[in-house]
Amino acid sequence: MPALFQAFQLKDVTLRNRVVVPPMCQYQAVDGLVNDWHQVHYAGLGRGGAGLVIVEASAVSPEGRITPGCTGIWSDRHAAALAPIAAAIKAGGAVPGIQIAHAGRKASANLPWEGDDHIPEGDRRGWQTIAPSAIPFGEHLPKMPRAMTTDDIARVRQDFADAARRARDAGFEWLELHFAHGYLGQSFFSPHSNQRQDQYGGNADNRNRFLIETLEAVRAVWPEHLPLTARFGVIEYDGHDEQTLADAIVLARKFKDAGLDLLSVSVGFTVPDTHIPWKSRGFLVPVAERVRREAGLPVSSAWGLDDPALAERTIAQKQLDLVQVGKAHLANPHWAFAAARELGQEHAASLLPPSYGYWLQRY
Ligand SMILES: Cc1cc2nc3c(=O)[nH]c(=O)nc-3n(C[C@H](O)[C@H](O)[C@H](O)COP(=O)(O)O)c2cc1C
Repeated sequence: MPALFQAFQLKDVTLRNRVVVPPMCQYQAVDGLVNDWHQVHYAGLGRGGAGLVIVEASAVSPEGRITPGCTGIWSDRHAAALAPIAAAIKAGGAVPGIQIAHAGRKASANLPWEGDDHIPEGDRRGWQTIAPSAIPFGEHLPKMPRAMTTDDIARVRQDFADAARRARDAGFEWLELHFAHGYLGQSFFSPHSNQRQDQYGGNADNRNRFLIETLEAVRAVWPEHLPLTARFGVIEYDGHDEQTLADAIVLARKFKDAGLDLLSVSVGFTVPDTHIPWKSRGFLVPVAERVRREAGLPVSSAWGLDDPALAERTIAQKQLDLVQVGKAHLANPHWAFAAARELGQEHAASLLPPSYGYWLQRY
């Protein structure tokens, strides 16, 4: 059997294979509430053959949304709307996961296809953003955030814990904290965006504090038998990569000590001026492998891993524990089935429910 299609167990959860649908915002929510779009979208992904489907970045508070179309999990009403989505993913044979998030200074943006930039000052659709320091991201996201007080920090930490409890009550079995992509967690870690003078800024231990405290608050309410994971940018491709990576590996070890079960290794996206090697397929894999080895944590990663042979190699060679395939799942929700067939797996069609799989066995 291809390595990509071997089961993977983490805590009491077993994924049927190593293919993950990573969180992908749909920008279709109203007031953070999911609707028919999300139900159909996630049900389709759940039955497509992947082992794990992670619902998109869902904000822990209204100001934590990236755009007005982002989903939220800041009230029990939001969680109740998400529960049928968790159930549909599970009914399709995948494990239902969710990413909980706060967009920090990148919040209050237009939808990607309506500009992807900050909603202009004075426009009633926008809101005040918050961040570790009053430093804007720049370029298309120039809005000046308000520097968080320690009360703000305590409140957001509690928002994450409350969101985790709601995710559990809604039936999710895999939780991912969004500490990547220049959003709030990542911007506490990075000295580019965190220039605080208090115990949450300055040296690496202080810049790590918000992330560790938030993880601990979540671990206290998220069931011990279910996987708790985080997505985190370990590299920026901004010319300071060795230092960033060394600091990130130290933090990953601390995450592990605080109860993290797996790290989704990603890019920081904290600064606009970077040299990300987009054209080099699987560019992040050696970086993730290093984190896996040096931090001693299982890892997943993404970015251009949708070639089945490449995905297979990353698992067979123990570079990654899980492979995340994003946009290719938008093109084909049955990507895992197609990959299994391409890799020569026997009975690939049995990954799909019988209403599809029975007819596709010899097709
Ligand atoms: C439409 C879209 C929405 C995304 N939303 C999220 C998100 O909510 N959270 C996140 O961590 N990454 C998000 N990403 C990044 C993906 O999870 C993934 O890392 C990225 O698409 C690279 O993988 P790929 O090359 O297989 O598409 C998004 C990507 C896309 C295309």
